Amino acid sequence: MSSHGDPIPMTSSACGPLSGVAEVPGDKSISHRSLILGAMAVGETTITGLLEGQDVLDTGKAMQAFGAEVVNHGGGSWSVHGVGVGGFAEPDQVIDCGNSGTGVRLIMGAMATSPISVTFTGDASLNGRPMARVTDPLALFGCQAVGRAGGRLPMTLVGAADPVPVRYTVPVPSAQVKSAVLLAGLNAPGETVVIEEEATRDHTERMLAGFGAEISTEVTEAGRVITLKGQPELAPQHIDVPRDPSSAAFPVCAALIVPGSDVLVPNIGLNPTRAGLFTTLREMGADLVYENEREEGGEPVADLRARFSPDLVGIEVPAERAASMIDEYPVLSVVASFAKGRTHMPGVKELRVKESDRIDAMAVGLRAAGVAVEDGPDWWTVTGLGHGNVPGGVTCASHLDHRIAMSFLVMGMATQKPMGVDDGGPIATSFPIFEPLMSGLGADMRRGG
Ligand code: S3P
Repeated sequence: MSSHGDPIPMTSSACGPLSGVAEVPGDKSISHRSLILGAMAVGETTITGLLEGQDVLDTGKAMQAFGAEVVNHGGGSWSVHGVGVGGFAEPDQVIDCGNSGTGVRLIMGAMATSPISVTFTGDASLNGRPMARVTDPLALFGCQAVGRAGGRLPMTLVGAADPVPVRYTVPVPSAQVKSAVLLAGLNAPGETVVIEEEATRDHTERMLAGFGAEISTEVTEAGRVITLKGQPELAPQHIDVPRDPSSAAFPVCAALIVPGSDVLVPNIGLNPTRAGLFTTLREMGADLVYENEREEGGEPVADLRARFSPDLVGIEVPAERAASMIDEYPVLSVVASFAKGRTHMPGVKELRVKESDRIDAMAVGLRAAGVAVEDGPDWWTVTGLGHGNVPGGVTCASHLDHRIAMSFLVMGMATQKPMGVDDGGPIATSFPIFEPLMSGLGADMRRGG
């Protein structure tokens, strides 16, 4: 991966219509959770469609360091022989989670109620991200953490030998924090309760129920109250990982802005806690149709058909939708650049603490490419120029952030002059087949500045 290797400059130029079928990889959130919950079950969990991106591979390596047996059978098919709740061994090496906030935060939760000491690190991006949001609630279980100033990695956690259950209201809309507390609650006696005011992705809750934990969610005035009964024996599962809506966003958005395009993105999970981008695009006038709508594994799924959309308009994106599309704002800002009028995106403070400060990273690149962007601490506004009118012609910093790199490369498919990124290496963390997949649809992307 790029943080451990040389930067890979990439350039994307205007292309003819994009067409064909875009089979995007497995869901990153579900892939991490499959490996972690598989490692906490007793016996063998089998997984198909696992995302083999660097973030998930790093989580697999970590699970091995805790004593689980993780085997790659090829073609996205994996197995995890789990050690059971409370069965984690103390790793004899530092756990390197690479670029992945989800990986490190969920693993911290999973080990926090076992009597082991673990040191975590990551790449320059991850080592700059806040961890107190996770270690604060984990301290309530009895887990201690010592890290760098500001609660940054590298950091050592000493798991609680006699954990107590916790009742915790998550102060920021974060599925990672919610999930860390729930995973820690697995090895605490009694009931752990997590309250979230705003709904965030609920894969942990759904998957814990699938693995046989007693977990319930009540929707109250105060938000969603999630109650987990501790110390269950998790039963191994077969998990068929659905394709990632956050990766689907890139071919979908590219098709909307490249004249003449018609792209089918099959089998995309449309869990309402993840599908906010597609609702937003349709409100902007996107020709985006859900075909073959169905249920698979208890989740709504559809094939997405995206066609060039000549009449996109800027809109107000409701703040309460932010959690359901938090990873998609960078590429939405690209689509907004090709729409007519202002797209205002409030309630997005969390974008500032992702793999990069995503508002800043996109605003700097979009402005350099000729698009007006205003921003504040928790909002930004993009004033679109309409199709054919976006100048482009700049190389942008990707800041070790896969979604920033992919967003600017999608933009270059429809700007007047090519768009470059200084480093496309991070794309491999979540979407290792991005380059061949987009080229296969007709994109003109190449390596080099
Ligand atoms: C994720 C939660 C989100 C998201 C990340 C994946 C998860 O982060 O941005 O890409 O799998 O739980 P936050 O919980 O920090 O919002």
